[in-house]
Amino acid sequence: MSLAVTLSRAQEGVAAPQVMVEVHLSGGLPGTNIVGLPEAAVREARDRVRVAIQNTSFEYPNRKVTVNLAPAELPKDGGRFDLAIALGILAAGGQVPREKLDDCEFLGELALSGALRGVSGVLPALLRARARGRRVVVPRANAAEAALVSDADVLVADTLAEVCGWLRGAQDLGLPTDPPPPGIDGIGPDLADVRGQLQARRALEIAATGGHHLLLSGPPGTGKTMLAERLPGILPPLTESEALETCAVLSVAGQTVDPQHWRRRPFRAPHHTASAVALVGGGAVPRPGEISLAHNGVLFLDELPEFGRHVLDVLREPMESGHIVVSRAARQSTFPAQFQLVAAMNPCPCGYAGDPRHSCQCTPDQVQRYRARISGPLLDRIDLGVQVLRVPLGELGAPPSVHDEDSATVRARVVKARQHALMRAGRPNAEISTRELERDCALGPAERRWFDAALERLGLSARAYHRTLRVARTIADLDGGAALLDRTHLAEALTYRRF
Ligand SMILES: Nc1ncnc2c1ncn2[C@@H]1O[C@H](COP(=O)(O)OP(=O)(O)OP(=O)(O)O)[C@@H](O)[C@H]1O
Ligand SMILES: [Mg+2]
Repeated sequence: MSLAVTLSRAQEGVAAPQVMVEVHLSGGLPGTNIVGLPEAAVREARDRVRVAIQNTSFEYPNRKVTVNLAPAELPKDGGRFDLAIALGILAAGGQVPREKLDDCEFLGELALSGALRGVSGVLPALLRARARGRRVVVPRANAAEAALVSDADVLVADTLAEVCGWLRGAQDLGLPTDPPPPGIDGIGPDLADVRGQLQARRALEIAATGGHHLLLSGPPGTGKTMLAERLPGILPPLTESEALETCAVLSVAGQTVDPQHWRRRPFRAPHHTASAVALVGGGAVPRPGEISLAHNGVLFLDELPEFGRHVLDVLREPMESGHIVVSRAARQSTFPAQFQLVAAMNPCPCGYAGDPRHSCQCTPDQVQRYRARISGPLLDRIDLGVQVLRVPLGELGAPPSVHDEDSATVRARVVKARQHALMRAGRPNAEISTRELERDCALGPAERRWFDAALERLGLSARAYHRTLRVARTIADLDGGAALLDRTHLAEALTYRRF
C-alpha cells in the first residue's frame, strides 16, 4: 500500500491540536503537492523535505506525492511538520517500517542536511500528547523544554537519519535530561536591598498575599522601580501546573524556557513605547503579548502615564477575565493572561508634587492632564495605591535595620496568609466574586456603620467599595485569618485608596 499516516501537532494559541499527515504515492507525473490549508512556510516544506531525504541517503519517490494535513480547516504554519511529512513519505514508499508510527507523534523542522531544528510550542504539544498516552519525538534543541513535563514519553533526536534508524530498530533515541530541582531563593533582586519605605513594603506584602493590583506613586528616585522588581521574589512559588501554563506561553512565543528558573513567577516590564499589539498580542500568526507572558506573574508598567491611553485601555478586559482573545482575519486565538499589575508613576510631569524638599514646577492644569492620561476604569481596577516618599539620605547608607526584611522572610508570611484564601475560595482574594466577597468579608453591625460612613466621607464608588473589602480581607488574613473583619483591617485598607 502506498498510503502512510504520521502524527504531529499544530499551534493555535496555547493549544496544540493534533494534525494527521497523510501521504499518498501514486502513478502520474512525479511531483509533490501539500494540501490542507498550509501557509507559505509549510508549502516550502516540499523542498526542504525532498533535499533532507536525499541527504539522508534515502530515495525521494519518483512518483506523484500527495501530502494532506488534516483537519483541513486548521491553519498550519512553520516548519514543525517537516519531520512528520518526511517520515510519511518514507513509510509510504516502504523505506521505513510503520509499526512505531501509530502511537508516536513527531515535531521538528528539517535542515537541508537532514538535521533537526527546534520548533516553538513544544511544551503544549507534549502536554496534549501525554494526555493521549502517546510518545513524542522532538529535536534536541527542544530537549530542555521537554524535560519539564514530568511523565511525558519523550525521545530526542538530532537528525532524520537517527529517527529512521530508531523506526527500523537499529538504534535508540536519547531521553531529555531531567530539569534541575526548582530553586527560587537567591534569584532576582531581594527586598533586603530596600531601606525604609515601610508603607510601600507593607503594600507590596498585601499585594503579594491577595494578588491585588498595585500602583506606586512618588517623586523620582524613591525606589518605586526597585520595589516593583521585588514582588516576584515574595510571591508564593508556582505550582507545577501553573509553571507549565506560563512556560507554554513562552514556548508558543518562541522564547526559550530557562530550566533553572521555570518555577519562578514571570516579571514582565514592557517599555512605555510598547504598542497595543506588543502588550496584548497579535500578528498575522497570533502571538502572545506581554500580558500573556506575565501569566501567573507580574506585569510591571513603569511610568504609567507615558503609555498611550488606548494601549492602557486594552488592558481593562483581560484584567477582569484573565485571558485575551486575539482575532486576525480568519484566525482567532485565546491566550491566558492572569497577571498581577504593578504600575509606577510620578505624581506630576516634573515628578515633585507633594515632595516636601522640592518645589513642584507644574501648573495645576498640567498635573490634571498628566493624571487624566490614565483612565478612570483602569484606576478603578487597582486595589492598592501607595505614595512612595523619599527616604532620608542617612537611612540609605545605614546598615539594614530590623524592618529591612529579606524576601524569604516576607514570602513565608505571604504563603501562610494566602493559605486562608485558598482554603475559603480556592483563589487569592483579588479574584473572588462579589458573592464570595459578601460571604467571606462579614462585618459586625458597628463595623458596617463605621465603614459606610468612611466610604461616604471619602466619596468612593461601588467598585471601590468591593475592592476595599477585598484588601481588608487580605489584611485580616495576614493578621491570622479572623473570620470577621475589624475596624483596623478596614481602616488600613482605606489608606490604600488615596490615588
Ligand atoms: N528605599 C531605598 N533603599 C535603597 N536604595 C534606594 C531606595 N530608594 C532609592 N534607592 C536607590 O535609588 C535608585 C533609584 O531607585 P528607583 O529606580 O527605584 O527609583 P524610582 O522611584 O523608580 O524613580 P523614577 O521615578 O525616576 O523612576 C535605586 O537604584 C537605588 O540605588
Ligand atoms: Mg522608576
